[in-house]
Amino acid sequence: MNFKEKIRVINDFPQPGIRFKDITTLLKEGKAFKAAIDELAARLNGKSIDLVVGPEARGFVVGAPLAYALGVGFVPVRKAGKLPAETVQANYSLEYGKDSLAMHKDAIKPGQKVLIADDLLATGGTISATLDLVKQLGGEPVGAAFLIELAYLQGREKLNGLEVVSLVKYE
Ligand code: PRP
Repeated sequence: MNFKEKIRVINDFPQPGIRFKDITTLLKEGKAFKAAIDELAARLNGKSIDLVVGPEARGFVVGAPLAYALGVGFVPVRKAGKLPAETVQANYSLEYGKDSLAMHKDAIKPGQKVLIADDLLATGGTISATLDLVKQLGGEPVGAAFLIELAYLQGREKLNGLEVVSLVKYE
């Protein structure tokens, strides 16, 4: 399937000069959504994975069905202050300022093999912070999966050689 044609591009959102990649047009088409998740799962076939970790909010939309397809558990990463039990935290840079992501301390057991999933890899800041959380808990990152990769922002290079799978690339 041509996934790129299912993604809507909105110019100048959320600010002038940004060409926003809107995945809602892909998600609302059942066949396209299923094919996208199945394709990511197929590309990860043979890889040993114990858990999928996904950052809010759009990382849940990709990570949870991917975990289900792989038959493994899903761990949410949330903005700090949202999770009810004890957490570990990691800071990350936004275009303006900083924010903090959190994960439950008991979410990952040391040595568990972790796949990180999100809708989009841009600068890699979100995934770097997520990797930091996984490592704080002794998890072993084995890869990262995305619907979209903005290759020109070179987010991959922030991920220290972690294997990256993406369905649609914008060069
Ligand atoms: C978007 C997107 C990724 C992240 C990618 O999330 O869903 O998580 O940005 O950018 P990066 O590689 O430069 O970090 P956003 O922070 O807008 O949160 P949302 O999913 O809750 O809208």
